[in-house]
Amino acid sequence: MNLSESLRKQTQEAEKKQYMIEQDPNRLALHLMPPVGWINDPNGLCQFHGVYHVFYQYSPLDPNGSMKAWGHYASRDQIQWTQLPAALYPDQKFDQDGVYSGSTFIENDTMYMFYTGNVKQPGAHDDELAYSGREANTVLVTSKDGIHFSEKQVVMTNADYPQEYTCHIRDPKVWKKEGRYYMIQGGRKMQYPGGGAKENSQQTDYGTVLIFESDDLVHWNFLKDITTEKRFGYMWECPDYFEVSGHPVLSTSPQGLTHEEYCYQNVYQSGYFLLDDEIIGADDKHNRIVPDPEKFHEWDYGFDFYAPQTFCDEKGRRILIGWAGIGDADYDNAPTVAVGWQHALTLPREITWSDGRLLQNPLPELKELRGTELAIGEECYAADTVFEIVADEIDADCLVQISTGEEAFCARYEAGIFDFSLTDGAGRGRRSRKIRIRDLRRIRLIVDNSMVEIYINDGEYVMTSRFYFPDDQRKIKVKGARETKMWYLKGLEIV
Ligand code: FRU
Repeated sequence: MNLSESLRKQTQEAEKKQYMIEQDPNRLALHLMPPVGWINDPNGLCQFHGVYHVFYQYSPLDPNGSMKAWGHYASRDQIQWTQLPAALYPDQKFDQDGVYSGSTFIENDTMYMFYTGNVKQPGAHDDELAYSGREANTVLVTSKDGIHFSEKQVVMTNADYPQEYTCHIRDPKVWKKEGRYYMIQGGRKMQYPGGGAKENSQQTDYGTVLIFESDDLVHWNFLKDITTEKRFGYMWECPDYFEVSGHPVLSTSPQGLTHEEYCYQNVYQSGYFLLDDEIIGADDKHNRIVPDPEKFHEWDYGFDFYAPQTFCDEKGRRILIGWAGIGDADYDNAPTVAVGWQHALTLPREITWSDGRLLQNPLPELKELRGTELAIGEECYAADTVFEIVADEIDADCLVQISTGEEAFCARYEAGIFDFSLTDGAGRGRRSRKIRIRDLRRIRLIVDNSMVEIYINDGEYVMTSRFYFPDDQRKIKVKGARETKMWYLKGLEIV
């Protein structure tokens, strides 16, 4: 049996042993989670011949994540999903330590899937892995039907990346403009800010994105890199570039930002720069675009969000899905690990442009899952753990609290600060996540067993967090809103 067959067999065996996961009260009904084991970034998001494809970083054999394959879900309506066999395994020399993140580009009735083939030199420690002991191969796979995949083809290796880069280059995303193909990847550029000779100056890594160009999707050349003037983290992962209503957006997941009271509160961040100019322009040899850190907006301010990716569906909607988790955060207390799984993806969110900013809202399809609308007072008990609440016309300081015998979580708005706190904030740093919001009008809360997504002011801010109901009594308090509605929600169908 070759390596690929053996990994496939081991995955199938692991996926058969789902009994404990199926019974887990923390399993998710609305969010895509791993069939078994671990999930991180969404990958290769696309709609191809009517079918939505969600690939994802999947470690079926280990709920703490190790071997990274591409898991695969598909759907026609984003409500009924089919769990398909993992699409790509690390079965070649050039991807032996992980089929890392990447994307899908669609053209000529073909899915072109690009990912990073990760290779770590055996025995290399962290520093060596950054500067010499790692290969970041850019690999292409194609598919004509979204189910069968071609042989893998390496289209770039370390030798194709600029010299002044560390070995951390990854997560390709591809698009086309005026007949040419462009690819963006995340990287870590070695700079010597003290000036002068390399030897005399302290080396500092800058988070950047690298742009490559191609005429045929196979031969790629480095075009330019883009970063901030002032260092904004040491590494940018999972970059994405797209336009919303004609406005250019550069999304990235920077590592190494300093925590501040009302922003950058997690270990790593994800957000976007609204650019003044398109990323590809007339004078491409110059780094015309220098993203301004002052114009960086976090996608999500909750405890658990990282590495989002967007795609454009056949209706022309720009849809974002993130990982409802973060790398290197302390998840020691995550109770799902004992049952054999960890983490999930966020709900798919539609991105729209409004008044100089981006809004994120769950796809309207989700409303089909609503049961009867209930008007609730300041306090009620939820009979189920999957529900939605909309608190409208908030005219004063407000409080939304989901409590049990103990409090499970609490969102409080007072004096311009929205403060979301978890009883069990333990494990991910501070107990609460805070944002400054000038005018709070509306809160939409989607609670899914052990996950909550909070949409504030029709998607101006979002907060995604895992939490765990400590017992069966779920008391909901909503104070300060003129009207509060609630719906119990049906779950997604996964076959
Ligand atoms: C982000 C990330 C990517 C990488 C992948 C590996 O969470 O670190 O940069 O490709 O996860 O699983």
